[in-house]
Amino acid sequence: MIFAKSVGNKLLYSDVQKYINANLTTDLHSLLLKKSPFSEVSMQEIVQQIKGKQVAEKKFPFLLKEGIIFPPQLNLEQASSEKTAVYKSEILKGKKFIDLTSGFGIDAYYLSKNFDEVTLVEQNAELLAIVENNWTVLGRKARFINQKLEDFLNENEENFDVIYMDPARRDNNKNKVFLLEDLSPDILQIQKKLLSISDEVVIKLSPLIDLKYLVSVLQNISRIDIIAWKNDVKEIVVFLSSKESEEIICNCVNLESEESTFNYKFGEEENAHSEYAEPEKFIYIPNNSILKAGVFNLISENFKVKKLHPNTHLYTSNEKVEDFPGRILEAEIIDSKQIKKKSQFNIISKNYPLKPEEIKKKYGLKDGGDHYLIFTQSKKGKIILKSV
Ligand SMILES: C[S@@+](CC[C@H](N)C(=O)[O-])C[C@H]1O[C@@H](n2cnc3c(N)ncnc32)[C@H](O)[C@@H]1O
Repeated sequence: MIFAKSVGNKLLYSDVQKYINANLTTDLHSLLLKKSPFSEVSMQEIVQQIKGKQVAEKKFPFLLKEGIIFPPQLNLEQASSEKTAVYKSEILKGKKFIDLTSGFGIDAYYLSKNFDEVTLVEQNAELLAIVENNWTVLGRKARFINQKLEDFLNENEENFDVIYMDPARRDNNKNKVFLLEDLSPDILQIQKKLLSISDEVVIKLSPLIDLKYLVSVLQNISRIDIIAWKNDVKEIVVFLSSKESEEIICNCVNLESEESTFNYKFGEEENAHSEYAEPEKFIYIPNNSILKAGVFNLISENFKVKKLHPNTHLYTSNEKVEDFPGRILEAEIIDSKQIKKKSQFNIISKNYPLKPEEIKKKYGLKDGGDHYLIFTQSKKGKIILKSV
């Protein structure tokens, strides 16, 4: 077993840190063209720290502290955000936690909070040394293991309460079908082994992954969380259990919204039916975690709202359904002739031939404001709805 080597701390010299902090808003391209004022620290290394602090401000503000070191851009991009990590941390508890793909350790830092013993495995030695430095600064203890997780698993004789993994994409081809085999590690190869040494295996996956495909290839799934933040789906998190589970509970979450979580059992959508209607007083736009889950009929049934059209994922009712997981608008149908040029609207296009940009051009509209124009189709044909 190889433990992480400690990070060189030239970047932490006070004059270097002063220079970094003085250049947080400097144009990084022009900075890169300059010669570093320090003989032992290159300008690339300085710029890496500045970028890190800029990313941390939005993504992980808990790291904006003296003594923290930031890794290269790719590791910053691959790291989870503090917001989603906090959500996941509230679900997990136990004695022994291991993150087999530590990366920059954001997930591990939060997810391991409710555990007594923490182990981080990471193949990238430089990255793990940075994490070790940062955890020391933050006053957190862990065992840091610099190894390929496959090798670690071959040597390992321990059991864990929770194994966490956030596999990396092998390539950046976004158009390709997203399969588990495209990830490192290949979960399909190790899932049996993981379930033999841990009660629970929690895997973070990209929002691009197909849920039906996941259920068809992974063993013992007990739970799937579809996590959006401000209506942007960020993660699919799959929970595997060492005990065979009879059902898979799915949770559609929209963090930092007033909307409550929508839970359902995987497969329920298959037997659910929508009622259809022309637009009534209220229009409902499901949040994107619901749309990703594809539970279009189930939400019609559960919330007693009627769907506008089989391919239009908009719903309607006369009585307001306050706890609907999405945006609720009071709206009326208008004629296109009623749309005044240069007026300001948030434009939504759902199951409509024109995209919002094209609609804006066609009607000479401005973006924004408090009102919505929805271009869509009901069973009777194309319609325009205006929020009141
Ligand atoms: C997406 S990142 C993890 C980010 C992390 N969850 C965070 O919040 O910072 C995936 C990490 O897994 C590591 N990794 C991928 N395959 C691995 C393997 N076979 N063994 C060990 N580490 C691996 C990569 O080097 C990368 O740092």
